[in-house]
Amino acid sequence: MVSRERPDPRPGSVRTAVVWDALGPVLSGEPCDVVDIGGGTGGFAVRVAQAGHRVAVVDPSPDALAALSRRAREIGVEVAGHQGDVSGLLDVVGPESADLVLCHGLLEVVDAAAALATIRKVLRPGGTVSILVAQRHAAVVARAMAGHLSQALALLEGDEQSERGARAGRPPRRFTAAEISDLVEQAGFAVSAVHAVRVFTDLVPGSLLDQEAGAASALAELERAVAERPEYLPLATQIHLLAT
Ligand SMILES: C[S@@+](CC[C@H](N)C(=O)[O-])C[C@H]1O[C@@H](n2cnc3c(N)ncnc32)[C@H](O)[C@@H]1O
Repeated sequence: MVSRERPDPRPGSVRTAVVWDALGPVLSGEPCDVVDIGGGTGGFAVRVAQAGHRVAVVDPSPDALAALSRRAREIGVEVAGHQGDVSGLLDVVGPESADLVLCHGLLEVVDAAAALATIRKVLRPGGTVSILVAQRHAAVVARAMAGHLSQALALLEGDEQSERGARAGRPPRRFTAAEISDLVEQAGFAVSAVHAVRVFTDLVPGSLLDQEAGAASALAELERAVAERPEYLPLATQIHLLAT
């Protein structure tokens, strides 16, 4: 039996429900300046702009920026898209220019320590960074369950070399909650929250969410219930951190 207290979310939004919950209080005040580094096609940026904030996306991919423009236009919001790399972020947006920096899905593919140092310079005093990274142990389990046992073993040791990484010439990195927290603190931030994201969502069959009324809401409720429980961090596909 599933609860229908909230409207049934789309499966895609179940994946990000915990992150949006965490960002809610940060975005609830006066309009502020938000930089989404590696913001891609604007899945986060457009919704933040809809909430009334001034948003700039910096991303090296022209295709992603074009999709971002289309998405913003369709929704009727303004998002400034800049083609650029995190290493040149300061030149694009300027020092102490942001109240909030979104850094979602980026630290896996760049020099994470250098990126965090740059983000720190872009943030105004008292500003917040929202970080979302892939979590290593869930990937080990997923690879093993799919029968890719040697890949699972390589991931376990932290020396993964996925196909995507090999193509890009750099292995995407996955982090444990402790590793990403340490890196963020070493960059001079104070971590204020750590969340387990997508603990169950990638395990539940999509057909269940499509066919059973209320299943998506129940899944989002379950994700929310474990998001702040440290014992679920190693089971989460992603780790989300807020830091100031
Ligand atoms: C996994 S996607 C994440 C997109 C978006 N942040 C999200 O959470 O939906 C990673 C994004 O990082 C961008 N990216 C890759 N290398 C980058 C770099 N060196 N500097 C800035 N962005 C980069 C990619 O173009 C891509 O849009």
